[in-house]
Amino acid sequence: MDIKDTYIKFFESKGHKYIPSSGVIPENDPTSLFTTAGMQPLVPYLLGEKHPEGTRLVDVQKCFRTNDLDEIGDTTHHTFFEMLGNWSLGDYFKKESISWSFELLTKHFNIPVQKLAVTVFEGEGNIPRDDESAQIWQSLGISKKRISYLGKDDNFWTVGGVGPCGPDTEIFYWRSTEPVPEKHDPNDERWVEIWNNVFMQYYLDENGNVSELKQKNVDTGMGVERITAVLEGKDDNYKTSIWQDVINKIEEISGKKYDDEVYTKAMRIVADHIRAVVMISGDDAGIKPSNTDQGYVLRRIIRRMVRYAKMLDIDINSDWDTVLAQMIITKYEKYYQELTRNNEVILSVLKNEKTKFNRTLEKGLKEFEKIKKSLTGKEINKDLAFKLYDTYGFPIELTEELAKEEGLSVDIKGFEEKFKEHQEKSRTASAGKFKGGLASDGVMETKYHTATHLLNAALKEVVNKDVHQMGSNITAERMRFDFSCDHKLTDEEKKKTEELVNKWISEGIDVTHEIMTKEEALKSGAECMFIEKYPEEVTVYSIGNISKELCGGPHVKNTRELGHFKIKKEEASSAGVRRIKAILE
Ligand code: ALA
Repeated sequence: MDIKDTYIKFFESKGHKYIPSSGVIPENDPTSLFTTAGMQPLVPYLLGEKHPEGTRLVDVQKCFRTNDLDEIGDTTHHTFFEMLGNWSLGDYFKKESISWSFELLTKHFNIPVQKLAVTVFEGEGNIPRDDESAQIWQSLGISKKRISYLGKDDNFWTVGGVGPCGPDTEIFYWRSTEPVPEKHDPNDERWVEIWNNVFMQYYLDENGNVSELKQKNVDTGMGVERITAVLEGKDDNYKTSIWQDVINKIEEISGKKYDDEVYTKAMRIVADHIRAVVMISGDDAGIKPSNTDQGYVLRRIIRRMVRYAKMLDIDINSDWDTVLAQMIITKYEKYYQELTRNNEVILSVLKNEKTKFNRTLEKGLKEFEKIKKSLTGKEINKDLAFKLYDTYGFPIELTEELAKEEGLSVDIKGFEEKFKEHQEKSRTASAGKFKGGLASDGVMETKYHTATHLLNAALKEVVNKDVHQMGSNITAERMRFDFSCDHKLTDEEKKKTEELVNKWISEGIDVTHEIMTKEEALKSGAECMFIEKYPEEVTVYSIGNISKELCGGPHVKNTRELGHFKIKKEEASSAGVRRIKAILE
């Protein structure tokens, strides 16, 4: 049985429209680096915007989570994973949602009712206990003893703390050969969660206040890897049909056996990471390995994978990575056609990055050994950690992992400080955020970034083509823009500039970006303030044909997101430099 097909067909038969997965890099959400749940791309629709496909949707979404990176290598954790989900956007609610989940599990996935248990929300604050869901479960044949009431930590779902949220009911499967106990015990790990149905009827704001949404939604999520292991009766995800061919191929390439305990973990990591690398670099967002944001995560997992491949005695310079990546592309292109489109890019990203890293890996590992022997205490200091990073290309997490394996620690805080100092010296602050999105810019700041580019372009058109940006400063409340200009702007010029920016906003122009070398960027005519402050590899943001600038971002995806642009003040900044203060409203 193809689990994804069965799930999607089932919900199509219940009036749902299949929608293709959104990117694993969020398309309209500068606040997160990766898509971590099926509902994430649907937030605007959960909040009430009309979805073009209607009020019942089903999909399989590409997801990526880095919080479990250390755990990759066990039987169940993955960085990249797929999440099946079905949604009601103000359409059906608890009764249909629960009944259909039950029907799919017991009639199509053929799970015996005796092996199921559920949890429901016990209520807290203003939000009542979810007796309704419990009742529905009981009416379907789930015994009272198999229904546990749990609190906010377990049965109230929200993405990242702010946004649409609600109580959920989680479905558990008894994954053990022991007889199924009569009563559900939430602390017994032999009960594994296979599906989550969230009843999204609330909105949680920054201050922790919960209010009713305009509409009552259903958001469900089922991890493909987990349900596959359950249905195939495997207690190791890597032994399921999802991974078997990949593991076999790694065995063949390395000449090692998966069941040989010495190699099991390394094989799992190579398998997990190669798939994640394919999915991130194969996304239409065009992410390339770099030292910031998603590019940094991509770099980190490629380098981690290379290190583990080396532990399997794989010849890093051979085409093992191409063979494995191609296998993943072929396996997944049915649902994610962008992988076919970006096939060449994926393979070249991988090859370039592994080659680059492989040049220093051996020496870096030797350096690490040296460091280890020279230590008097148990901590690798910031200078040594920075040397491994700067000279040998060891992401700090890799150094940390190596250290951990030897019972050592790393002065991470010191490293970060040193890293920042170094960054500030060698590039602009915007291009040099440590770990990028972990300290990501907010939604408003992102909008102001894009508005700055539009203003820069508008001034060139309205005032003088030789106007140049001399500085800019952005907060969540406003933008400030300094530019070269020999006169105070007339009211007419201000008005025209404002109108032009608003015209571009209303035209809904896409904002795109490309990574290129500094030289290519300059050749392409991209504008920038201080070219020498940029690293060799730069990001160039374009807004249609209107603007092209070297910039660390982040930016909105489309100018329409900016709202209305208004100039609040125009004044002198210094000789030959004017300053505009503007807002978006
Ligand atoms: N959004 C819910 C989850 O990810 C369904 O578990």
